[in-house]
Amino acid sequence: MNNLSPAELVLVKKACEITRDALNFCEKQIVPGITTKQLDNLVEKFIIESGGFPACKGYEGFPGAVCISVNEMVVHGIPSDSIVLQEGDIVSVDIVVKYKGYYGDGARTFPVGKISEDKAKLIEVTKQCFFEGIENLKVGHRLGEMSSAIQKYAESNGYSVVRELVGHGIGKNMHEPPNVPNYGKVTDGPIVTDNAVIAIEPMINMGRKEVWLLEDGWGVVTRDGKCSAHYENTVHITKDGIEIWTL
Ligand code: MF3
Ligand code: CO
Repeated sequence: MNNLSPAELVLVKKACEITRDALNFCEKQIVPGITTKQLDNLVEKFIIESGGFPACKGYEGFPGAVCISVNEMVVHGIPSDSIVLQEGDIVSVDIVVKYKGYYGDGARTFPVGKISEDKAKLIEVTKQCFFEGIENLKVGHRLGEMSSAIQKYAESNGYSVVRELVGHGIGKNMHEPPNVPNYGKVTDGPIVTDNAVIAIEPMINMGRKEVWLLEDGWGVVTRDGKCSAHYENTVHITKDGIEIWTL
């Protein structure tokens, strides 16, 4: 796990703060009728005006500034002029900001107008998965204690955990070791070290855990077509506890 200098941590934290502000800005722009491309353009402008760079843009050829995934799309949705948000949808927005060479990463699932109770519960449980996870994230313990807590909470609510996509270390790169799964056994994974920065990102499906990759090579959707939600924060792990930097 990474172990950045205090000066580097200042830059990661700043990247995280822009990410947090961009997520909050994005939430306010979501109305029925807006396209995901319009939303992408607004968030991109906000990030740049805040002094950051939208790091998904051009990452392995990704065409958007941020990832925007509607309903049964789990993650990595390409913003599009032809995807119009409708009342009752849920929309997951995943934002990575680069600031002076360092990264912050966060995601939220937002309601579009009024949504059904079952979609609202999925959003709430996915968020709570993250908090159940960090309750079990401790220096000197296995990372799997957190991963298994996330899985347990999701499954106890009748949902399933996506296996193909996981959280990650973050700092000088968008993706660094270790993998941070949202499933597994308490004995899995590395021992958690002091001063590490990781992105924890439960992706929780209302139905079955299996996913497909769309033909565009990016969008990941549930095979059963049921909704999925995403909640991600970048956190700094210390002996004294967990600081959530994108919240
Ligand atoms: N936030 C995503 C992650 O945690 C990154 C998406 S990269 C993109 O891995 F290229 F799809 F934008
Ligand atoms: Co991430």
